[in-house]
Amino acid sequence: MSNVGNNKDNGGDNTIEHDKKVGFSGRSGVRLFEAMTLRGLHVRNRVWMPPMCMYSASARDGKPTPFHYQHYVSRAMGGFGMVIAEATAVSPTGRISPCDVGLWNDDQVAAWRWIVDDVKAAGAAFGVQLSHAGRKASTGCFAIGHENATVPRDQGGWPTVAPSAIPFGEYAEPRELTIDEIHGIEDEFRHAAERAVSAGFQMIQLHAAHGYLISQFLDPLSNQRRDEYGGALANRMRFLVEIVDAVRAVIPDGMPLTVRVSATDWATNGWNLEETIETARVLKDHGVDLIDVSTGGIVSGVSIPVRPNYQVPFAAAIRHDVDIPVTAVGLITKPKQAEKILRAGKADAIEIGRAALRDPYWPLRAAHRLGLGTDLIAYPQQYVRGAFRD
Ligand SMILES: Cc1cc2nc3c(=O)[nH]c(=O)nc-3n(C[C@H](O)[C@H](O)[C@H](O)COP(=O)(O)O)c2cc1C
Repeated sequence: MSNVGNNKDNGGDNTIEHDKKVGFSGRSGVRLFEAMTLRGLHVRNRVWMPPMCMYSASARDGKPTPFHYQHYVSRAMGGFGMVIAEATAVSPTGRISPCDVGLWNDDQVAAWRWIVDDVKAAGAAFGVQLSHAGRKASTGCFAIGHENATVPRDQGGWPTVAPSAIPFGEYAEPRELTIDEIHGIEDEFRHAAERAVSAGFQMIQLHAAHGYLISQFLDPLSNQRRDEYGGALANRMRFLVEIVDAVRAVIPDGMPLTVRVSATDWATNGWNLEETIETARVLKDHGVDLIDVSTGGIVSGVSIPVRPNYQVPFAAAIRHDVDIPVTAVGLITKPKQAEKILRAGKADAIEIGRAALRDPYWPLRAAHRLGLGTDLIAYPQQYVRGAFRD
């Protein structure tokens, strides 16, 4: 990881300070299963499920379906402390694909509510990732074909928008947004956040990673505007900061607001860790409670050194330099691996993505592997007789 840059991982020196802030309960002795408090939200442990698009709003109306109910409620039953619902579009044109879920109308609020109620009843906290895909919108998915390509207009695709008229790889060229349109999208984020609160979600995450619209504004390679939304970093982060302010103003004081970032685009002259840290400092001042640290997705065709823990140094650097809670994600698949990251003070919670797709009970299995019996973790009563055993 030679291009990690200003990675000041201090091996845990600041862990205690952070523990005070996020409220370690200290009862189980295993950090992964110690509760935390994020702003006003109690989270039962530090194993979180990150947002993962399921592209399964089959009626193409942005409404989650019984599939989503099963998908999210089973992970809550499986012991995750926080479940974060997939990239949820703030407008129809902000969808990555026609099969994305959304929160741009009240029917969608009603469709989310029963899922939210039962995820919470199963003991998990439930957050939602609000997203606009910008130049990466209107693409296909397994449900409709055209995967990793623009969906033709006659098959339900739509024109895309971006900070500048620069396409992502082979995708269709987007149209540059006007200032009024930028403000309009900020309003869409605000309204989607209000709907998320009304659906019962307990945490809002803004998707500022992976080359979607907010990250297109941040990255100098995709943002070549000459107005107040382009150029210097303070201008490129303006769209994100204005969305943070708009959302913070309409959600309850005790509700955590988090931002998922790509800490680097892995490209020469692109977005990097130093700019991420500078942005995270501003976000913290504007009431963001946690940074969810991912990388990549902004520029096509770059090589990413994907291996276990490959994004952890970025999370550790942001946690240390900005003094803000972070989650680490990316090929963290084993309980001891996750526990070690927390003990080293490199993150406040761990996100388990693809491993959770193959094993909804990952947290309960991990608790067993780390020596915690059903008396020490929140085990579903109905499942105690079938608890993991050696
Ligand atoms: C099927 C799938 C869908 C994903 N969708 C999203 C998404 O909606 N939003 C997001 O920020 N990341 C998304 N990701 C990235 C994951 O949240 C996670 O960062 C990534 O899979 C790395 O973690 P892992 O190695 O534990 O899977 C997705 C990943 C997968 C596998």
